[in-house]
Amino acid sequence: MSETVQLSSELQENVTMRPFSIDDAEAVAAAYIRNREHLAPWEPVRPEEFFTAKRQGALIAGKLQRLLDGTEVPWGLFDGDVVVGAVTLTGIIRGPFLSGDLGYWVDKDYTGKGLCTAAVSFAAESARKMGLHRVQASTLLHNTASRKVLARLGFTEIGVAPEYLRIAGKWQDHMLHQLILGN
Ligand SMILES: CC(C)(COP(=O)(O)OP(=O)(O)OC[C@H]1O[C@@H](n2cnc3c(N)ncnc32)[C@H](O)[C@@H]1OP(=O)(O)O)[C@@H](O)C(=O)NCCC(=O)NCCS
Repeated sequence: MSETVQLSSELQENVTMRPFSIDDAEAVAAAYIRNREHLAPWEPVRPEEFFTAKRQGALIAGKLQRLLDGTEVPWGLFDGDVVVGAVTLTGIIRGPFLSGDLGYWVDKDYTGKGLCTAAVSFAAESARKMGLHRVQASTLLHNTASRKVLARLGFTEIGVAPEYLRIAGKWQDHMLHQLILGN
């Protein structure tokens, strides 16, 4: 049974977490431009078009459709109007699985302040309120910061999935983690 889910939260002094809207496209493109080098080792190779407001608008439109369909929640982290990170709950599957996948990043100038921990904690609690049984997150084996966040929040390691995702141009092994939510 799902509870009422509040999808926005004040995470820290100046940082709010809320679902993206189409109006955020320009701010999202600017954030990806600022964080291009910071994110490159941890993400798929991005085509040049990815860094444009037009492409980000189209991507957000797809995410909002999936939000309506109940298969995704695309949160942004905002300092005022500036995008300083994102947390996405994708691939929400109901039936006997009741599961979703969490992905996230934090702006290079906002790391090391507990922001990701607060944001993933809020996302997991939202997933619990949506009635999900578990959330999963996968990290590169050498992504110490990300693994630390998940461990701190009580995620357990399922094991290593060989060549799980194509990141930074090559298929790379990932550690799969899950958090059982109690539903
Ligand atoms: C992973 C990431 C989201 C963490 O964001 P964050 O807001 O800095 O996370 P938090 O501050 O909540 O916690 C990070 C922890 O890792 C620690 N840490 C960071 N880099 C580290 C490193 N290289 N080695 C060891 N610990 C590290 C921090 O000190 C902190 O722990 P502490 O609070 O005990 O000091 C951010 O680094 C990021 O965006 N990285 C690039 C994209 C990415 O990796 N996304 C996740 C893909 S799975």
